[in-house]
Amino acid sequence: MNEKFQPVRGTQDLLPDLKNTFRYIESVCRLTAALFGFKDIDTPIFEFSDVFHRTLGETSDAISKETYTFTDRGGNSLTLRPEGTAGLVRAFISNGMTQDLPLRLYYYGPMFRYERPQKGRYRQFHQVGVETLGLESPHADSEVIALAHLFLQRLGVAEAAKLELNSLGDADSRAAYRERLVEFLNDFATQLSPDSQERLSKNPLRILDSKDEGDRKILERAPKLSESLTSGSVEFFGRLQEDLKILGIPFVLNEKLVRGLDYYRHTVFEFTTDQLGAQGALVAGGRYDGLVESMGGPSTPGVGWAAGVERLALLVEGRVPAEPVNRVAIIPADETAAKIGLKMAFDLRTAGIACELLEPGNIGKRLKRANKIGARAAVILGEAELAQQTATVKDLTASAQETVPAAALTAHVQKLFS
Ligand code: HAM
Repeated sequence: MNEKFQPVRGTQDLLPDLKNTFRYIESVCRLTAALFGFKDIDTPIFEFSDVFHRTLGETSDAISKETYTFTDRGGNSLTLRPEGTAGLVRAFISNGMTQDLPLRLYYYGPMFRYERPQKGRYRQFHQVGVETLGLESPHADSEVIALAHLFLQRLGVAEAAKLELNSLGDADSRAAYRERLVEFLNDFATQLSPDSQERLSKNPLRILDSKDEGDRKILERAPKLSESLTSGSVEFFGRLQEDLKILGIPFVLNEKLVRGLDYYRHTVFEFTTDQLGAQGALVAGGRYDGLVESMGGPSTPGVGWAAGVERLALLVEGRVPAEPVNRVAIIPADETAAKIGLKMAFDLRTAGIACELLEPGNIGKRLKRANKIGARAAVILGEAELAQQTATVKDLTASAQETVPAAALTAHVQKLFS
C-alpha cells in the first residue's frame, strides 16, 4: 500500500469496539460531572497560536516542542489545541461569560501533541475534562478531585489509581522557591542531564520531576518547595487536605509533582496508575488562578482537570457493559419476500425498533448472523407467510414463535419488547 495511506504516526482509528469504549468513558464522565452541576461545552480544535503560546508557557514541553502550529491561507498562525483549558478560558472571555460566575464546565474532544508515541501516548488523543471558574475556596479543589474520584470509581478503575497531591503555592511562593532552587542547582549545573541543564534557566521547577538518575541524586539535597510556601498557601493546602479526609478520598503528598504547564498555582494533582507502564497519569489537573487575567480577562480563579481517554480505555478494556439491544432480524425466503421485508424493516425503525434485513440465503448462517447482531427476535418471511400475508416472529430469547398478520407486525414486536 502507498505509505501515504497509512495512519499518521501517533494517530489511531477508533474501530467500532474501541469507539464504543470511548463513548462509554465519555458518558460516565459526563453523567458524573452533571451530578456536580457541570454543563457541557465545546470549543474549536484550533485557536490562534497565542492562546496557547502565551498561557501554557513558552518553555513548557507542550509549547516548545509539541505543538502542531501552521499558517492558514489568510496568514494567521494557528495551533491545534494541545489541551483544553486555554481554549476554554478564551471562550469564557470572548463570550462575555464573566457575569455568569461561578461556572462549572465539562468537555470532551481530541487534543494534539507532537510527542514520541508509545503505549498510552499518542499525537492525537482525547481528553474528558472539567473546569470550575470563579471559585477561590479550596472546597472547589476538593470538589473537582471528588468528581475525578467518583468518575474513576464508576468506571471500576479507582482501585488501580493513586491520588498524588502537591501545592506550588501562590505566585510569591513559586517565585521564592524558583530562586532558592536555581541557587542550589547552579552549583551542580555541569552534572545535570542535558535536559535539566536547559531547564535550569528556562523552567527550573520542571527539573524536580526529572527521571534521570543523576538528577534525582542531586535533587535529594535540594531545598523543598513546601519550605517556600507563604502562610496563606500553607493554610489553603491544609484546608484541601482536610476536605479530602472528610470525603474519605485517600491521597499521598508528592513534593516532586510540579506538572508540565506554566499556569498552575496552589493545588496540583494527578491520579496515577502503575498498570500502564511509563504513561501512568490518568487524570491530571490543578488550580490556575491568574490564567484568565493573563489572557486579558478579569481576575478569575479556576481549577480543573483532564483525563486521557486512551489510557482509561486500556484499563476498562473488556469491561464495558453491553448496550441493551431490542433488535430484530428479518429473514426473507426469497427476493419477493425481501421486498416485503424491506418495508417491514422500515416500519419497525419508524416505530423506534432497530432491525437488520438479512439477504436471502442459507437459513443456518442467517440465524447465526441474527445472534451475532444481538437480535432478540427474528421475523421469518417464508412461502406460507407470503401466501397468507403473515409473518412468523421468533422470540430468540424464549425459543417461542407466533405467526401474526403482516399488518400487525410492528404492534406485536412492540408488545414483545415491552
Ligand atoms: P495534562 O497533564 O497535560 O494536563 O494532560 C491531562 C491528561 O491527558 C494526562 O494525565 C493524560 O492522561 C492525558 N494525555 C496527555 N498527553 C497525552 C498523550 N500524548 N497521549 C495520550 N494521553 C495524553 C492538561 O492537559 C491540563 N489542561 C489539565 C487541566 C485542566 N488542568 C486544569 N484544568
